[in-house]
Amino acid sequence: MIPNQWYAVLESKQVKKGQLIGVVRLGEKLVFWRIQNGDVHCTLDKCIHRGAQLSKGKVINHRLECPFHGFQYDKTGEVKVIPARGKNAIVEHYFKQRAYITREMGGLIFIYWGKWPEDEGKLPAVPMFEELLNKDFKYYTKIDHWNVHYSLVIENQLDVVHLPFVHSRTIGRGYRTLVHGPGIRECQGDDGLIEIQVQPFNVKDDGITIPLKYSEIPDNLKTYLYFRFPNIWMNRISNSTIIFIAFSPIDEENTLLYLRFYLKSSIPLLGAIIGRVGARGNLLIAGQDKRVVITQHPLKSVYKMQGQKLIQGDRPIVEYRRIRQKLIENYLEKRNEVK
Ligand code: FES
Ligand SMILES: [Fe+2]
Repeated sequence: MIPNQWYAVLESKQVKKGQLIGVVRLGEKLVFWRIQNGDVHCTLDKCIHRGAQLSKGKVINHRLECPFHGFQYDKTGEVKVIPARGKNAIVEHYFKQRAYITREMGGLIFIYWGKWPEDEGKLPAVPMFEELLNKDFKYYTKIDHWNVHYSLVIENQLDVVHLPFVHSRTIGRGYRTLVHGPGIRECQGDDGLIEIQVQPFNVKDDGITIPLKYSEIPDNLKTYLYFRFPNIWMNRISNSTIIFIAFSPIDEENTLLYLRFYLKSSIPLLGAIIGRVGARGNLLIAGQDKRVVITQHPLKSVYKMQGQKLIQGDRPIVEYRRIRQKLIENYLEKRNEVK
């Protein structure tokens, strides 16, 4: 997991007003709590006093209260009240747990997994796909747990070569095993957003056709796979139908997928039925992928992986690994500068 990025970690509805939830994300035990004005906050799920789990406590106004001796934490992780000393006693700054900045967008909770910055205004943009914020879209979610590092799930979603094999009876029907390109674009915005866009172009193999190179892929080919670092992806099926996945990292060997089926429909009831069927379809297709991905070795994406012989069609995966490696190096460089 690479620090100093926004990770989608939960669905908004998992954290209700005045309530808290303890989860493992990015290899850490975290507690999320939502205060009355709707803001969500996040700290490590461990009291700095004597180690009780904060997620067993409660939300008091805008603070989180430990269930053991009532220490009260604010959103930055600072203890503001130690009841045994008197509620108005000053608390020293070192009474502080690690906290993460959170944002909500499109019904997802993101955390900036890094040090609390001095200037919140300088943080990169939250990497949500803007078109999914359109109120005309309704979405239907299924959650699926995979026993692999989130990077491998992402690689699978960028893999155009597997379609006719893993999904021979569903989205890969038609035995289109010959892989042109695929077309690929990379977009890096000034706001820190990094996106890989893929144009799949698989055809039936007639025994004569030679796969086109990336540069030969026609410009007007539909782009429908989009991945935004570090952990969201969408498949734009049409202007009114989109499949979206947030790959929420639990730890080095576990990932939670928030699979959403987005639909714009002018007939609400019919839309709800199609949406539910679509969400179930997402889960079915993800199950086909999971069956194979969990058998891969190693269960984590690494740049220049030993023992793997990649082919032209794997280029989106190579690009993913390359950018991921770059982000790791950037982080390490900055960390050394700070030291
Ligand atoms: S362990 Fe949390 S207040 Fe004592
Ligand atoms: Fe797949």
